[in-house]
Amino acid sequence: MSGVKPLELIKVRSEGKFNIHLITSKKDLDSISAIGELKSKIAGRVGKEELVYSVPSKDGVTVIAKFKEESETSYRFQAARALGAKLRKIVNSEKVAMATLVSLTADRADTLAVIEGMVLSNYQFNAYKTGDKGKPNKFTKLNVLAAGVSEGDLQELSGVAVGTFAARDFVNEPVITLTATEWSKRMVALGKATGFKTTTFDKKKIEALKMGGLLGVNKGSVEPPTFNILEWKPKNAKNKKPIVLVGKGVVYDTGGYNIKTVQMAQMKSDMGGGAAVSGAIAAIAANKLPVHVIGLIPATDNRIDGKAIVADDVLKMMSGTTVEVLNTDAEGRLILADALHYAKQYNPELVIDLATLTGAAARITDYYGIAMCADKTDTTALKESGERVYERLMEFPMWREFHDAIKSNVADIKNIGGAAGGNITAATFLHHFTDYPWIHLDIAGPSFMTADVDYRLKGGTGVGVRLLYDFIKHTYA
Ligand code: BES
Ligand code: ZN
Ligand code: ZN
Repeated sequence: MSGVKPLELIKVRSEGKFNIHLITSKKDLDSISAIGELKSKIAGRVGKEELVYSVPSKDGVTVIAKFKEESETSYRFQAARALGAKLRKIVNSEKVAMATLVSLTADRADTLAVIEGMVLSNYQFNAYKTGDKGKPNKFTKLNVLAAGVSEGDLQELSGVAVGTFAARDFVNEPVITLTATEWSKRMVALGKATGFKTTTFDKKKIEALKMGGLLGVNKGSVEPPTFNILEWKPKNAKNKKPIVLVGKGVVYDTGGYNIKTVQMAQMKSDMGGGAAVSGAIAAIAANKLPVHVIGLIPATDNRIDGKAIVADDVLKMMSGTTVEVLNTDAEGRLILADALHYAKQYNPELVIDLATLTGAAARITDYYGIAMCADKTDTTALKESGERVYERLMEFPMWREFHDAIKSNVADIKNIGGAAGGNITAATFLHHFTDYPWIHLDIAGPSFMTADVDYRLKGGTGVGVRLLYDFIKHTYA
């Protein structure tokens, strides 16, 4: 694997030189001798709001920290992660390699959320920065002094961070390097590092399978497509039927002949769904969850060339369904159609697809959450995971009118609908290729940041990795 490693997390029994005391009330200050006379001053600041107070001393630094009080669980964990991100910045700017988080009264989940905020915000993508700007963060090691938090907890958090960082790296890497073929190689490497198996179909095999959607989108590219199958199948798997995760892997979306004229930049992130699927399976494998999981990632770029598809073309998908292409920029659903059809052979317990599918979803959710549609399954548990990890879900029904909207005059269906509910039309299109319990997650909003917000840094966020990990662990492990 390339990229930076997550902070090393170590459970310790004593304080170090740079200590961060996570407090829950004024009383906690009594046991912190290093703050000396400042105690009453700091006590005066302890309230419901976030508190960060640094006290330098001869032999180190003592930071007093408390996260903002929130009554709802999802906001509470998020406040803890935001505090973690702020603390991480302080440690790194002090140019120390190691700090100790002392948490004596906060409960386990809150303490872990603070640590998670520190770990996730210490990510960097420096591959193309030269000189000082490309320097790795000094902060590399976090000691944890907290009775309630076990070594296993810290290991698990690190495993999920490895998956999240891998997903971020995949999104951040530009297409000049990360072609479909190169990405497949990197998925194999990620699998070797974390324990899952990867099988990659090349163009010949994709042709033999008649994946007309993937081949159609790829027609304008000089780079061949790939179809990637990731599998984590432990001997102790508790599920008989696999969970299948499908991810949109458009390594670059120019729009094709319906070229993106308003904004093309950031479309290297159009494989955020595939990145999330590979990152989640990496996290699941790294933590050896007893669940059989399969990932399907169709990968290609969407470009213009003499052979590229144009509006009015008709494609025959792997399922046999014919699709009238009325907009070459609605390409994600074309490649996903083949992957969703391919998933049928596994007799899956549940299929979840993740895709940066529509601008409509992004306009609804921004980076605050994910637009969801579902069929033949209850989404309660996934929604609960979404609240816990702060990758929240907004569910939309697929009303009959949306099905009517994709009827075609010349083929079975067309790849665009009417003006309303673009995210729902897209989901309705995908629904054609499913016959199993299915959840569709449109992550166009939260997959890429244009500004830092706490632990979500500019660039790929790895959204979906923590959500899928949490959901699969709580539901099937
Ligand atoms: N990859 C885009 C969707 C997208 C937009 C992702 C913004 C992230 C940020 C997708 O392929 C696309 O272009 N969708 C079109 C569909 C339309 C032509 C029906 C869209 O949403 O405009
Ligand atoms: Zn597009
Ligand atoms: Zn796209």
